[in-house]
Amino acid sequence: MPAAQTIAIVLAAGMGTRMRSDTPKVMHQLAGMPLVDHVLAGLSAAGITKATVVLGPEMADQTARFAPHNTVIQTERLGTGHAVKVALDAYDPSESDVLVVYADTPLLTTETINALLEQKRNDAAVAVLGFRPDDPGAYGRLITQGDQLESIVEAADASTDELKIELCNSGVLVANGQKLGAWVNALKNDNTKGEFYLTHVVALARADNEACVFTEGEVDELVGINNRADLAVAEGIVQNRYRAAVMAAGVTLQDPASVFLCHDTTFGTDVEVGPFTVFGPGVVIGSHVTIKGFCHFENATIGDRAVVGPYARLRPGAELDEGAHIGNFVEIKNARIEQGAKVNHLSYVGDARVGQGANVGAGTITANYDGFNKSKTNIGAGASIGSNTVLVAPVNVGDGAITGAGTVVRKDVPDNAIAVSEAAQRNREGTADAYRAQKKAVKESNGKDS
Ligand code: UD1
Ligand code: MG
Repeated sequence: MPAAQTIAIVLAAGMGTRMRSDTPKVMHQLAGMPLVDHVLAGLSAAGITKATVVLGPEMADQTARFAPHNTVIQTERLGTGHAVKVALDAYDPSESDVLVVYADTPLLTTETINALLEQKRNDAAVAVLGFRPDDPGAYGRLITQGDQLESIVEAADASTDELKIELCNSGVLVANGQKLGAWVNALKNDNTKGEFYLTHVVALARADNEACVFTEGEVDELVGINNRADLAVAEGIVQNRYRAAVMAAGVTLQDPASVFLCHDTTFGTDVEVGPFTVFGPGVVIGSHVTIKGFCHFENATIGDRAVVGPYARLRPGAELDEGAHIGNFVEIKNARIEQGAKVNHLSYVGDARVGQGANVGAGTITANYDGFNKSKTNIGAGASIGSNTVLVAPVNVGDGAITGAGTVVRKDVPDNAIAVSEAAQRNREGTADAYRAQKKAVKESNGKDS
């Protein structure tokens, strides 16, 4: 049966108490994307584009974000078997196979989903994906006989011998839709946790003499996220996958382990990224870009041949055109730095345009906020902004204009004009030695007193 005839149910209603969080567990993020969205993306890559997502009541106002998937609210969290029952009651799978995945198991790959569906096709009523974690701990154990799966026993209900079984339940299961409906209706909650376990379906299927099979997946794909430590482990796995993918696509990561990517980071070719750089959401990088280390980016666009960092911060709305240079300790927010323009040292450029080929000197600040409104600074093409210029927005600096060092620009500077605002400098000739002698004497007399 092709994947298109498989209906998926995504269980995402659990309380996630072990996360100790006000945020529902499935909305915690890996590489900038909620766990549940990782699961849905994996399903979609396997050709399953419509799923029923079972949500807890606290997410009842978020159903729209799941479109085009169906959603159903599990008002009382009575266990994974009950969650599947709620989904099947709302959306009849008719003749389809039903693939159940847990939203707290977000690293599942397309290949593994397809392998399990293939296994199910060999006339079995149920196929379960098992795995062998380093520490089987609280995972359910698969009770097998030859290549037949007999039952799944939850750790809390397992005997000492059963706890020694290394083959665990990943939570991923595919079953004949009609039969699964009957089995989840027949589940009982007479177990340690008093829950309706989906895992008990296997024993019910075997009691009906139906074939149940299992296959094994990789640990890295099947870690379940139940607490913050699990979340950190999963983040590491996701980051390693993304790092490998971008390197395969032509990006040099000088020290991959210290570069953090987001699910939507996009690179052109021949980009070089130095160590300790964080890509937040919405970052688009062109080709032949050099990113020196220790940078932080979010919702920013970096054009071809731009050079950024080290220690640069690009905040939302930063747009660097081709060949722009952004240097150390420079923060750019909601500003376009046009072709070949340079902001190389110790500057804040916010709500601004820096025209083509302009040079912004060290320590330049756009004073964009008066405590009430944000205002715009517009720097013309080829302008030269002197060190420590303060541009009090709203203000325009014309094409080819120059501002002197330390200028506070409060009114527009016309094209090709030079703006200076410094107070006249006074030199007191030959007074430096006397000044130093006086300072020294004061310091020595203070020392005697103490
Ligand atoms: C479950 C399995 C266990 C397996 C492990 C794999 C059961 C009974 N146990 O245990 O065999 O080894 O996953 O990670 O299935 N959920 C609901 N509604 C509920 C309860 C849970 O939607 O009423 C959802 C949760 O959001 C979560 C998933 O189901 O995404 C699994 O629930 P969880 O409580 O994490 O089960 P585990 O104890 O991890
Ligand atoms: Mg779990």
